[in-house]
Amino acid sequence: MTSPPTPASAPTSPSARIPPTPQARESSTYASVRRLLRATRVSRGYGSGHGRVAAVDDVTVDFDPGTLTAVMGPSGSGKSTLMHLLAGLDRPSSGGVTLGDQDLNALSDDDLTRLRRDAMGFVFQAFTVFDDLSVAENVDVPFRLARDVAPADPQWRAHLIDALDLAPLLARRPTEISGGQQQRVAIARALVHRPSVVFADEPTGNLDLATGRSVLALLAGLAPTQGCTVVMVTHDPAAAAVADRVLVLADGRLVHDLPRTDAATLSQLMLAEVAR
Ligand SMILES: Nc1ncnc2c1ncn2[C@@H]1O[C@H](COP(=O)(O)OP(=O)(O)O)[C@@H](O)[C@H]1O
Ligand SMILES: [Mg+2]
Repeated sequence: MTSPPTPASAPTSPSARIPPTPQARESSTYASVRRLLRATRVSRGYGSGHGRVAAVDDVTVDFDPGTLTAVMGPSGSGKSTLMHLLAGLDRPSSGGVTLGDQDLNALSDDDLTRLRRDAMGFVFQAFTVFDDLSVAENVDVPFRLARDVAPADPQWRAHLIDALDLAPLLARRPTEISGGQQQRVAIARALVHRPSVVFADEPTGNLDLATGRSVLALLAGLAPTQGCTVVMVTHDPAAAAVADRVLVLADGRLVHDLPRTDAATLSQLMLAEVAR
C-alpha cells in the first residue's frame, strides 16, 4: 500500500497529477498571492579577520512566480546560506531580500515568522514530525498552529495526499511509518497552506529513487499549476534538469544563470566547478 505513485519512468507530467484549484487560488485568505522574490546584492559572512568566510558574496537575483529554479554548486559554495537568506531564516550582512513589496530586513522577528508561516513552505532534509499526532494531524499542523490561517482547501489537501501516497497512512502515528514516509508527511505539511514560495534544500537526498522522483514531480508541478515560486537546492543534475532555470554558485558568488539545461550538460558544468 505504501509504494510511491510514480512509475519508474519519471519525471511524469506533474500537471496531470495536480490540476489547479482556481477557487482556492483566488481566495485572498490563502497566501498564494504571486509575489516576486528578489535578492539585491546580498552577502553573508561568517567569522572575522583572516578567518572570515564570505558564504554568500554579493548575489543579485530575481525569482519569478510560477517558476522552478534549481541552485547548484560545490559543497560549501553557499547554496544553503543563500536559501536561508531568501527565506528570512538568516539575515544578510549586507544587501536585502524582498518578497513582493515586503523588505525582509525591515520586518521584526515576529513579522518574519508570520510571513514564513503564511507565504513560505520548506522542504528540508532535516524535517520534523510530531510523534503524538497522527499523520493527518501532522499534515494539518499549519492550521493547528495559527487560528488566523484559513483551513486547508480540501481539494488541494487531497491532491497532496494522493501525490505523496499518504492516504493509507493518515490514521497512523509517525512511529508506525518509515523514515521516507515521514518525510513525505513533512512535505505535505510544507505545501498544504499553498505557499507562494517553496524552498527545498536537497529534497530528494534521503529518498529512494522512485519516491525522489515523485517528490520532484510534485515540486515541478507546483510552479506551473499553482503559480508558486520554487527554489530548490540540489547537487543532482537529473533533478536540476527539470527546473526552468539553473543558478550555479561558487565560493558564494553567482557564476552561472542558465535557462533549462539538460542533465549531461549540468554534470559537465559541476565537474568543471569542482575542479576549479
Ligand atoms: N553557521 C556557520 N558558521 C560558520 N561558517 C558557516 C556557517 N554556515 C555556513 N558556513 C560556511 O559558509 C560556506 C557556505 O556554506 P553553505 O551555505 O552551507 O554551503 P552549501 O550549502 O553550498 O554546501 C561554507 O564555507 C561554510 O563552511
Ligand atoms: Mg547545503
